[in-house]
Amino acid sequence: MARARLKFPRGFLWGTATSSHQVEGQNTHNDWHTWQEEGQIQNDDKPGLACDWWGGRWKEDFDRAAESGQNAHRMSIEWSRVQPTPDRWDEDALDHYREMIRGLTIRGMTPVVTLHHFTNPKWIAKKGGWENRETIQHFVPYVEKVVEALSDYVKHWCTINEPNVYATLAYLFGDFPPGKQDLGSLFKVMTNLVRGHAAAYHAIHRVQKESRAGMAVNYRGMAPARKWHPLDQFMAWFQSKMYNDFFPNAAHSGRLTFPYKIIRLPEAKGTQDFLGINYYTQELISFSLQHRQELFAHRHFDPHSKLSTTGFIAHEPQGLFQALKWGIQYGIPLMVTENGIEDPEDEIRPQYIAEHIYQLWQGINYNWPIKGYFHWTLVDNFEWERGWSQRFGLWDLDLESQARTRRKSADLYQEICRTNELTSGMVESYAPQSLERLFPG
Ligand code: GAL
Repeated sequence: MARARLKFPRGFLWGTATSSHQVEGQNTHNDWHTWQEEGQIQNDDKPGLACDWWGGRWKEDFDRAAESGQNAHRMSIEWSRVQPTPDRWDEDALDHYREMIRGLTIRGMTPVVTLHHFTNPKWIAKKGGWENRETIQHFVPYVEKVVEALSDYVKHWCTINEPNVYATLAYLFGDFPPGKQDLGSLFKVMTNLVRGHAAAYHAIHRVQKESRAGMAVNYRGMAPARKWHPLDQFMAWFQSKMYNDFFPNAAHSGRLTFPYKIIRLPEAKGTQDFLGINYYTQELISFSLQHRQELFAHRHFDPHSKLSTTGFIAHEPQGLFQALKWGIQYGIPLMVTENGIEDPEDEIRPQYIAEHIYQLWQGINYNWPIKGYFHWTLVDNFEWERGWSQRFGLWDLDLESQARTRRKSADLYQEICRTNELTSGMVESYAPQSLERLFPG
């Protein structure tokens, strides 16, 4: 077979994504610390040192990323470190972040920095968190402080990571702190997150004129389980509207479309210079009276699809193409800000990477303005309420010894990043089961 090469545009950003609480270790000033102390994490797991980035191991991990051809990295700033109490800015913490981000740039990696990735300072949580509109007034000075401190090195900012996941898990399903299951709170929080995003967007631009700011939204494909069934069709449409469309629509149009009302927030209109898409999987939706808490939607995977180790993610690469197709409606550049799979033995990951990057390439071939791809994640990290039970890293982490072991997927991703292309040869060596599908003949 002739060797095929799928090329990516010059300057395409290839990297991995991380978040502060998941990699730094020793975060004791945020609401996830309270949550862990309350025993709310699977197996009573604790982040402990995590990847020990606060202890300095970011250096060796950034070396790993840079040596593997990555030219970008998405990371987040921990609000509770920068402002552990309402009246105190921790300048040492800001210096630490400045050093890390300088560390990225001197290794030739473009930083993309997230300002809110699920965690809140304990003092914010005590005041009612995102249910309290006052949180926005506290978020803005924090954003300004960080942008002022890091603007020499950072141009791309994500205001809020996955406001849709955060709101749903913290206020509808109760898996994230504060563990509520309350529709009234959910809608209040969704509104305040839009306000917070918009205020942060304006603050970023005030401090740094040439910045590019947007949010990273989790996109989940949702299709009716029974294609012919009007109630399944309706539920899939409705769930997708509330979950996928709500936040980017609000930032695009300034309109927040709830089931029973529309709120207009003119200050939110046009507050995205790019859209970050976090894509992991897609699912089927059936109408079910038993699933009251999920607003009558039974969400499940296609029984034919391959599942990740703990059944958390179904391997549905064509869903990434759908996510990108959905994203271009906003008429702004797109970045895949997260994509990955939990797979300790690295059994599906090479295939997952090859097939998702193939879908990404398809989007690029349609001339869609896709600027980068960030794999989740570099080294195994602390996976929220699932603790250490899921392993998403290109490198395996031994939490006790802090030893990293390279997985085969890291080699595949390195070849892609270094050459800026995906070739049939790579697929043949790392994911032979995908060869016929991606390169038929
Ligand atoms: C995303 C989240 C990440 C990471 C990932 C894998 O929703 O933004 O922090 O946990 O899922 O579970």
